[in-house]
Amino acid sequence: MADAAIIVEEARKTYGGSSRRSGRPALDGLDLTVARGTVHGVLGPNGAGKTTLVRILATLLRPDAGRIEVAGHDVVREAYAVRLRIGLLGQHAALDEELGGRQNLELFGRLHHLGARRARARADELLERFELTGTGRKAVKQYSGGMRRRLDLAASLITEPEVLFLDEPTTGLDPRGRAEVWESVRSLVGGGTTVLLTTQYLEEADQLADRISVVDAGRVIADGTADELKAAVGGDRIDVVLRDAGQLGTAVALLPVPKDAVTVDTDRRLLSAPVTDRMAALAGVVRALEDAGVEAEDIALRRPTLDEVFLHLTGDDDRVKEAA
Ligand SMILES: Nc1ncnc2c1ncn2[C@@H]1O[C@H](COP(=O)(O)OP(=O)(O)O)[C@@H](O)[C@H]1O
Ligand SMILES: [Mg+2]
Repeated sequence: MADAAIIVEEARKTYGGSSRRSGRPALDGLDLTVARGTVHGVLGPNGAGKTTLVRILATLLRPDAGRIEVAGHDVVREAYAVRLRIGLLGQHAALDEELGGRQNLELFGRLHHLGARRARARADELLERFELTGTGRKAVKQYSGGMRRRLDLAASLITEPEVLFLDEPTTGLDPRGRAEVWESVRSLVGGGTTVLLTTQYLEEADQLADRISVVDAGRVIADGTADELKAAVGGDRIDVVLRDAGQLGTAVALLPVPKDAVTVDTDRRLLSAPVTDRMAALAGVVRALEDAGVEAEDIALRRPTLDEVFLHLTGDDDRVKEAA
């Protein structure tokens, strides 16, 4: 891709050295391309290799092998050129708790060699952009989780980076804080910044990312838009809610798919199954239930959720629950 902001080809990294035979690789031939001005989601469970990837892209860690370029520069041979063009929001950011938001931003500006006047102006710009102007004087230790994260984000933008890395930007935030950060990330994209965002939250990738790479055990196991990923997993699903939970067993056998493809939620008296031809499936299920005397309260066709996509791709229930 000519207009790629990030290119990763066959990236490999094993902690403790590539020669060590025993260690499981953290990155095991990972491939990724991110077009300029887009948001790319790297979605994966704990231990998938997301932070390792981000640290390599941000030149904080050397890969064992692979071709890795950020903003047109090689992360190993041209690390300095890469550093001038990137911003990083890590899982733990370095804010001074005792200082106000504005002071923190000014300090960051000075650390990045902006003059005093320029640092002050940039701090004000960013406070306004992230709707923190009213709280600029308040000490950071009094901030809510969402406010802190927005300030982190502002700090990572001091130098107007071409490419911004966000490593699990909403982990640990409550739903409101998460929504605030999502809003901030959306506002970045308008400015032309390329964003690579890691997350364990399927909904977050769905909400923010133009394209998503699903990562597991250091490899990309699927990629595409959220819609493409959903479509790749067999198109639509049919949901059937029964009046009587006692008939769930009978109803499973009436659906036009193998038994083990049907998920059953007894509490909600709900059956769900993937279908290929949606209208034919709907008509067939209605008829089969009627013929068998099984009464349905509701029947609906729908797209699969990203959770179902993830479950299907990794084939691992427990980790999906953990991640959700
Ligand atoms: N500093 C380290 N030393 C040794 N192993 C590590 C280190 N950091 C991460 N790992 C291992 O590398 C793998 C990928 O970790 P990480 O990149 O942190 O995944 P994620 O961010 O997706 O949770 C995991 O198996 C993890 O235990
Ligand atoms: Mg991580």
